[in-house]
Amino acid sequence: MQVIVGTDYAALCAIAADRIEKQIREKPDCRLGLATGSSPLGIYEELIRRCREEGLDFSRVRTVNLDEYLGLSPEHGQSYRHFMDRVLFDRINIDKRNTFIPRGDGDPEESLREFRACLSGGEIDLQLLGLGSDGHIGFNEPGSVLQDQAHIEELDPSTIAANSRFFDDPAQVPRRALTMGIGDIMRARSLLLIISGSGKEEAAARLLLGGDVTCLCPATFLRLHRDATVLLSRTLADKIGWKE
Ligand code: F6R
Repeated sequence: MQVIVGTDYAALCAIAADRIEKQIREKPDCRLGLATGSSPLGIYEELIRRCREEGLDFSRVRTVNLDEYLGLSPEHGQSYRHFMDRVLFDRINIDKRNTFIPRGDGDPEESLREFRACLSGGEIDLQLLGLGSDGHIGFNEPGSVLQDQAHIEELDPSTIAANSRFFDDPAQVPRRALTMGIGDIMRARSLLLIISGSGKEEAAARLLLGGDVTCLCPATFLRLHRDATVLLSRTLADKIGWKE
């Protein structure tokens, strides 16, 4: 696992955007795995800039997202489909038919079948990840087992609390989500995890400072991946005592 410490969030986003740009230039029809939440926002802004100002071409890029809330329609303001359209897809030259986000409404079993079929239809070249304060990646929450394939996950109370900042009323935060499994994430050719946001010191320390690879901190599985990169700020590195 490669660990890169950047001066600040903007520096981390530039490094991540460089990786993604390299991937697109090497393979214009690559498949990117994408994440929602606050952590990737600066990366998406930088990619939009490069698309508009430097001709970074998304016209053949294909994407699949990590997860979606169960119970929210694609039109819902807090659905991850809506989020991705707003913060990235509507602002770059991607063909939206080449973007996949599991459906949160309708029959969950049917959505799951579609999600699994999408994932088995091709390899992910580069998967972007954020880190949950409880150590989750995608919505693979800590527990006694982790699931290999896409599945329905009950969200941890800490995840519901963290994500309530996007909703008018915390009671509106969905309790369940569709998520890629840990195996789906591990099968991606390369992984890029950006650690940003508050309350992530403990999870970051478990990932970076050694100790067991454990279902109790799903992000620790990144240590077993053949091409995983973790990006964190100098401030966080100092706080947790990470030494290069
Ligand atoms: C989002 C996702 C989650 C987030 C994580 C961190 O699609 O799968 O794992 O990456 O919860 O969220 P933020 O970046 O909002 O702190």
